[in-house]
Amino acid sequence: MPTPLHQTLLHKIARNDFSVGIIGLGYVGLPLAMSMTRKNIKVTGFDIDPTKCDVLNGGESYLETVKSADIKSARTAKCFEATSDMKRLREPDFIIICVPTPLDAHKSPDLSYIEISSKDIAATLRKGQVISLESTTYPGTMEDIVKPILAETGLSLDQDYMVIYSPEREDPGNRDFKTNTIPKVVGADTPESLEIAEKFYGLFIDKVVSVKNIRTAEAVKITENIFRAVNIAMVNELKVIYDRMDIDVWEVVEAAKTKPFGYMPFYPGPGLGGHCIPIDPFYLTWKAREFDTATRFIELAGEINLSMPRYVAEKTMHAMNKIHKRGLNGSKILICGIAYKKNVNDQRETPAFPLIKILEEQGAQVDFHDPYIPEVLPNRHFPEISGRKSVPLTAEGLEKYDAVLIITDHDSISYKDIAKSARVIVDTRNAMKNYATECAALFKA
Ligand SMILES: NC(=O)c1ccc[n+]([C@@H]2O[C@H](COP(=O)([O-])OP(=O)(O)OC[C@H]3O[C@@H](n4cnc5c(N)ncnc54)[C@H](O)[C@@H]3O)[C@@H](O)[C@H]2O)c1
Repeated sequence: MPTPLHQTLLHKIARNDFSVGIIGLGYVGLPLAMSMTRKNIKVTGFDIDPTKCDVLNGGESYLETVKSADIKSARTAKCFEATSDMKRLREPDFIIICVPTPLDAHKSPDLSYIEISSKDIAATLRKGQVISLESTTYPGTMEDIVKPILAETGLSLDQDYMVIYSPEREDPGNRDFKTNTIPKVVGADTPESLEIAEKFYGLFIDKVVSVKNIRTAEAVKITENIFRAVNIAMVNELKVIYDRMDIDVWEVVEAAKTKPFGYMPFYPGPGLGGHCIPIDPFYLTWKAREFDTATRFIELAGEINLSMPRYVAEKTMHAMNKIHKRGLNGSKILICGIAYKKNVNDQRETPAFPLIKILEEQGAQVDFHDPYIPEVLPNRHFPEISGRKSVPLTAEGLEKYDAVLIITDHDSISYKDIAKSARVIVDTRNAMKNYATECAALFKA
């Protein structure tokens, strides 16, 4: 049934007479804010990190993937400001939650960030507000966590305020898509709130895809990430088998992807990284226990992907034995690229860290070079690696290492120079494909 709330919101959207609050100005929240400000939508970003707010209010970006010029023009147009003052959540008409959803020490979902944000919103919730959750999570989070916290305010859902779920599909560093050109899924539990979701996101996203309720929208996102995790695990498993059979998995995938239907290429690598693919699938694993259901694909994919750094270390050991006639103990190794994927400075969950740990446990001395990461951030899982600095990549420098491991294939690295100067190369990304004949010793891993 159309309600006064529904009518008011439709009018506000039609007249662009509303403002937006985005909680969490990270890899997701900040580009999302920029895609709105480009359409002259007024955005206030809320982040608990006051340093980030100061940098952004000064017109600078702190992320490689968002241009300072965009922040500057949004600031000049008075469309964007950042604040740590959560009491100001009363101001915006639309509030979007983009906070982290990690795993805790027991690999269970850590929903504390969503809980805190929901409580912050509840503290100032007023009639007329729409709350959209964008953080990735398991189906049922809105129902189990967000709705009950908002209900404690005494305001009435769908009469006084609305809730929607719209999973984020941001792919930092992907130059083929911008936030507004990635189709956006929206889900809501009433026809009225779904219409508001479609109209709101339709203002700054080219294509909005509606699903019939919030649980379905939550399931869409987790399905997409499980799909990637499982397929990457499969190609990693094939890599190991084909290597034993002396078949190049990269050549196999290149040829297989010419099939115009029924195949989609996934590429092997040193393991999974980032804030999403290694983590999100386990949100469903955890939730599935409540339904007495096993998630064997997810568990197996996790097992295979997590074993990849050890596989790369074994391949390095093999390369050392073959070329230098000795093992890893006492060897000097250079890791080229430690970001979890190319052309970004994101080091979260990077497989480079467990790899460094394994190599050092075997007695190797490990340095790294990464043009995007001058220094490793504090990391509670790998405190011994925290604070280490990137070394320069020079011909003389390369020669002093017993082996160079390509872990992240940033475009700005000269693979030709590596081919010329490195004594042994272990390549996990097929980055040396054009220079294979120039390498003294090349091993794929
Ligand atoms: N990074 C990606 O590529 C990507 C893609 C799709 C979906 N997601 C999902 O989007 C969500 C956010 O991920 P992200 O990569 O942007 O994380 P992020 O760590 O880059 O950013 C999160 C931001 O939230 C801030 N924050 C934390 N707690 C807060 C609080 N209580 N109040 C206000 N701000 C707070 C942090 O300071 C940080 O700036 C996660 O659920 C993630 O799974 C991420």
